[in-house]
Amino acid sequence: MIFRSWKLAPTSVKSTLSAAQTLLLLGALLAPAAPAAAQRKAAKSAVKAAPAANVEQRVAALLAQMTLEEKIGQLTQYSGREVTGPVNPRQTDLLNQIRSGQVGSMLNVKGVADTRAIQAEALKARLKIPLLFGLDVIHGYQTVFPVPLGEAASWDLDAIRLSAHVAAREAAASGVHWTFAPMVDVGRDPRWGRVMEGAGEDTYLGSQIARARVLGFQGERLGGTDAIMACAKHFAAYGAAIAGRDYNAVDLSPQQLWEVYLPPFKASVDAGVATFMNSFNTLNGQPATGSSYLQRDILKGQWKYPGFVVSDWGSIREMVPWGYAPTPADAAQKALVAGNDMDMENDVYRTTLAQLVKDGKVDVALVDDAAGRILRKKFELGLFDDPYKFSDLKREKQVLADPQHRTAAREVARKSMVLLKNERNTLPLSAQQRRIVVIGPLAKSKRDLAGSWTVYADTTQIVSMYDGLQQRAGKSAELRYAKGCDITGSSRAGFAQAVEAAKNADVVVLAVGESWDMSGEAKSRVDIHLPGMQEELFQALKATGKPVVAVVFGGRPLIFNQIAEQADAILYAWFPGSEGGHALADVLYGDYNPAGKLPSTFPRSVGQLPLPYTQYNTGRPVTKPGDIRYKSAYIDELNTPRYAFGHGLSYTTFRYDNLQLSQPKLGTGQTAQLQCTVTNTGQRAGEEVVQLYVRDLVASVVRPLRELKGFQKINLKPGESRTVTFTIGPDQLAFYNAQLQWAAEPGEFELMIGSASDDIRQQTKLELLP
Ligand code: NOJ
Repeated sequence: MIFRSWKLAPTSVKSTLSAAQTLLLLGALLAPAAPAAAQRKAAKSAVKAAPAANVEQRVAALLAQMTLEEKIGQLTQYSGREVTGPVNPRQTDLLNQIRSGQVGSMLNVKGVADTRAIQAEALKARLKIPLLFGLDVIHGYQTVFPVPLGEAASWDLDAIRLSAHVAAREAAASGVHWTFAPMVDVGRDPRWGRVMEGAGEDTYLGSQIARARVLGFQGERLGGTDAIMACAKHFAAYGAAIAGRDYNAVDLSPQQLWEVYLPPFKASVDAGVATFMNSFNTLNGQPATGSSYLQRDILKGQWKYPGFVVSDWGSIREMVPWGYAPTPADAAQKALVAGNDMDMENDVYRTTLAQLVKDGKVDVALVDDAAGRILRKKFELGLFDDPYKFSDLKREKQVLADPQHRTAAREVARKSMVLLKNERNTLPLSAQQRRIVVIGPLAKSKRDLAGSWTVYADTTQIVSMYDGLQQRAGKSAELRYAKGCDITGSSRAGFAQAVEAAKNADVVVLAVGESWDMSGEAKSRVDIHLPGMQEELFQALKATGKPVVAVVFGGRPLIFNQIAEQADAILYAWFPGSEGGHALADVLYGDYNPAGKLPSTFPRSVGQLPLPYTQYNTGRPVTKPGDIRYKSAYIDELNTPRYAFGHGLSYTTFRYDNLQLSQPKLGTGQTAQLQCTVTNTGQRAGEEVVQLYVRDLVASVVRPLRELKGFQKINLKPGESRTVTFTIGPDQLAFYNAQLQWAAEPGEFELMIGSASDDIRQQTKLELLP
């Protein structure tokens, strides 16, 4: 039994898990899976050339038996919507292709019944090579976890790993072998709707999270029935789409590419990620899908990546409208030569590659290499030994009904929430506040709390904020509700009722935000203010003089200047998933002390974008507020963000003192220890994310004012102190110079420890000796 050492937390809404309990839950969830139940009497592969341990020999033996068409079949992936849906002409063709070994993988087929049925068709082919089933399992499968950007706000790598593991466990019990996650694109422009799917704007935090997610999905190695293949996407620089418009071109300096955008991909390779997906964008004029520089030189060359690369949906064919390939056949040739192994829904490898090989335009060795990479993963997953290994009805039923997945979802959800503001300790709500009025278009919503990319979730099983609060308040408070307005639109028709309800309340809890489908793929926005009349509704409520707590939902940093300035408290809830309402009640009532920190800067104005915290001093910095004449500034807006990267409050307070650096000067290759003491100076236990930032004061390439180089999340009881230690060495000091060499240059560095990128509490200098 996989959860043998974990005791379920009581279902009482008051239950809170300590950090130690989270680790226990993680430990229990990550315990090695019990051996799979009796192996199915599955049709075995015809290939039994070598013992299971010797994957390489088995791959080689299989390739030797394959025709060119069968090899190209392995490089071909189609969406299964047509196969599992009502009868249609495409279905017959596709089934015939599957039966004749012309398809290697399917996406969007899920559930044991469907995956078994389609796998059975694949096993009718001459060599009985099992299909790979891939799916976008982005933040949970049936149990929905917070959107990835929200999870990133936890800065809690164990929690993030736990979330990916639960998703893998459910998906793997439901016929899925492979998720197209994690998205490790650094996203610095919140107009881009896909920031929702990533880990925010920072390369260091993003790299740590990439690793945690890969390990969560895959476990230590593939082959268990609770692990699925992960996919680091989108390679590369997709997050830098010009003007935040999805699928747009990317123009990036080599330094930015190497320093900011590539490290999370390298971290994924180091964590053993099984697959990569390339991207829709161009990089400096060349479509990423057709880029040998990215896929052959960097990924498969320099990084020696042994897995395979799948295209994004249609991205090979899209090289034609980009104006990079005259025909789909030419695009196929360019993609394969550039290192794109699998064709996702382009239908160009299957239809053109054989001829390209026969015409001498594509070397068959490239086809062999790509097919070998894909077959290797099928062997590693154990599909040749049991093609139905992941398709077991009993296991699917059991695993999907496991209540501990909801416990994990609630735990991760409350860790993801960020307390942006809390004037006069408005939060947590107290037992004395007996008349609570819950207002806003998102207060009773279930669907929105799931966010985008929920391909299997039962969104009726989501706990709304209202329901969560109602359960927590029980009989001790009277909860009233008024919608006030819709998320979008211009009607004020509901204002009067909301204001009336507010007048009789002790506190107003206002739930505002974006709808779930305003962020995600193809959801770029030019205006990221709270949509519709929501800020106006806030002002009407504020005018009653009652304390207003704003709970903001969104898949990206939003702009809500009036709420930011006038609300008594603000909690940023992202889209928190299945247990969102319970997690919100935990945080709002203080059963859980919030500790989330922003993984992305929140701007004041769209005109400031992009506004990562890694700003430069410039030659004309603003040194005094308001003194902007001939300075690097705007005449109509501040340079500073509304909320800085790393910002997030707690119901307690922390003091930082006693900074110590083990040595003020460092010789080449040496490391120093930087320490400081953090004390919980408040009345409640709480977690703090202690952040280390570094600035190279003078360098051959101008460096940002600060860059995150380390963090530690600690839990302190009231009055408790802890010494936090960071190692400072080449990894913390180096950068890519003009020759693209990764090197630390002698000179002075500023070392800063703080509670946020704009809340540095202790700092000192270090000199790197020549
Ligand atoms: C397109 C998206 O860009 C990618 O992230 C996703 O995995 C595929 N579609 C498959 O759904």
